[in-house]
Amino acid sequence: MNGKKILLGITGSIAAYKAPTLVRLLKKAGAEVKVIMTPSSTEFVSPLVLSTLSKNEVLVDISNQNSWANHVMLGRWADLLLIAPASCNTIAKMSTGICDNLLLAVYLSATCPVWVAPAMDEDMWHHASFKRNINTLESWNHIILQSEYGELASGLVGMGRMMEPENIFSSLENYFAQSLSLNGKRALVTAGPTYENLDPVRYIGNHSTGKMGIAIATSLANQGCEVELVLGPTSLNIEHSLIKTTRVTSAEQMFNACTELFDTVDIAIMSAAVADYTPVQVANQKIKKKTDTFTIELTKTKDILKHLGTCKTEKQVLVGFALESENETDYALKKLEEKNADAIVLNSLKDEGAGFGHDTNKVTIFERKGKTTSVPLKSKKEIADILVKKIIEWVKK
Ligand code: CTP
Repeated sequence: MNGKKILLGITGSIAAYKAPTLVRLLKKAGAEVKVIMTPSSTEFVSPLVLSTLSKNEVLVDISNQNSWANHVMLGRWADLLLIAPASCNTIAKMSTGICDNLLLAVYLSATCPVWVAPAMDEDMWHHASFKRNINTLESWNHIILQSEYGELASGLVGMGRMMEPENIFSSLENYFAQSLSLNGKRALVTAGPTYENLDPVRYIGNHSTGKMGIAIATSLANQGCEVELVLGPTSLNIEHSLIKTTRVTSAEQMFNACTELFDTVDIAIMSAAVADYTPVQVANQKIKKKTDTFTIELTKTKDILKHLGTCKTEKQVLVGFALESENETDYALKKLEEKNADAIVLNSLKDEGAGFGHDTNKVTIFERKGKTTSVPLKSKKEIADILVKKIIEWVKK
């Protein structure tokens, strides 16, 4: 739903009181929402509430003293026009082309898909004219969100209740997910630092915050990809219906989580700053400062990226990261080869605003097939979107 433009039409039905819930759900999922109300619907729900929640002006009239609402452009702006609740009256007008308010003018000029959530009392719902009108809308490929059975405004119990906002929302979510580029794909993403324990109170770690990896996981999920995020110790959190997070602490734990998941994914992006070395021995008790110098013996951790490179199938896409301070291109190309990755994303410590902790990054993407792309300083979200756009191309081939 992220970035989707939804035009919500509200008509005169008691179910209009549920519209704020729908707007909140859509906004929370990252959609842009513009609300158009019929004049009678303003008696059932306040335009002020809806403009506050949608963060857009609510439109009711085609014109006021000084301006005219451009119904053609509104219809073209939207990815989807949803009329919820759709009263018997509005459905009748839609089916016959009557255009006596702004919502109907927008409807008649909309070029996007139209969804309709009828709401009325049961006797109206059973009336032959309503059935004829709704069938007409259906024959024009409008999506009709089936009314539900339950208590009605009249006090009767029966058919005609508007589909609950939560159900409307999940239908929209499914609809948009199906049209996304990575729908049906799975990805593994590592992010954040690892901590290697020395004793019960100390560890060897690094300054990674996991921002870049989380941005990548989010960008993949926004394209419909199911993401397994293996996240090292960080205070950052991520909530997305398509991202499952496994929290780990050490390089060993990250290795185990990744090797378990790798077979199940189409894409693996190793953006974590994994410790290269870990203490040979972890003290059971806190180490006391007895001597003037203190030496820690370290041993190499298992290289997750390199290991996955040896198990990778033809169909899987494997991407690694490199953070270098000198001979950047040579080292990045060496990593591409040694780790059998399809691409290495290089960030240089020399670049201001790039690397650990920043909200921005500046990267160069080296592809196995020889192509190199330099991306200037941008937000980590934008960098993630650029990388994911490339991944979509690689996955398709
Ligand atoms: N990586 C990993 N497992 C490790 C270490 C690193 O998966 N134990 C991954 C990182 O997530 C990143 C890439 O490998 O994608 C970084 O390569 P690495 O060899 O660790 O680079 P450096 O730490 O800079 O090591 P070197 O000293 O070889 O340059």
